[in-house]
Amino acid sequence: MNNAVYWVGRSEERVIRFDFVDGKIVVGDTGPGIDRDDVWRLFQLFYTRRSSGRGVGLYLSR
Ligand SMILES: Nc1ncnc2c1ncn2[C@@H]1O[C@H](COP(=O)(O)OP(=O)(O)OP(=O)(O)O)[C@@H](O)[C@H]1O
Ligand SMILES: [Mg+2]
Repeated sequence: MNNAVYWVGRSEERVIRFDFVDGKIVVGDTGPGIDRDDVWRLFQLFYTRRSSGRGVGLYLSR
């Protein structure tokens, strides 16, 4: 959720949606999205593309 709030701020359209799909929680946002080639890195410690990001949030959530 924190990530979605940050990334929608970089778009003109600012929508965040929550859903359940196959028993999993899904958070979607209208921000720039994630490059397909970067998906495997998302949960790695210290991976970040935010200017002042720490790359810790998704690692901890997992
Ligand atoms: N909703 C999103 N839209 C686009 N990119 C995202 C989104 N969520 C995560 N990412 C990408 O995944 C990276 C890692 O996210 P993560 O939450 O682990 O770290 P962070 O947000 O950069 O810093 P922090 O430690 O403060 O959470 C982000 O820097 C960004 O590149
Ligand atoms: Mg984060």
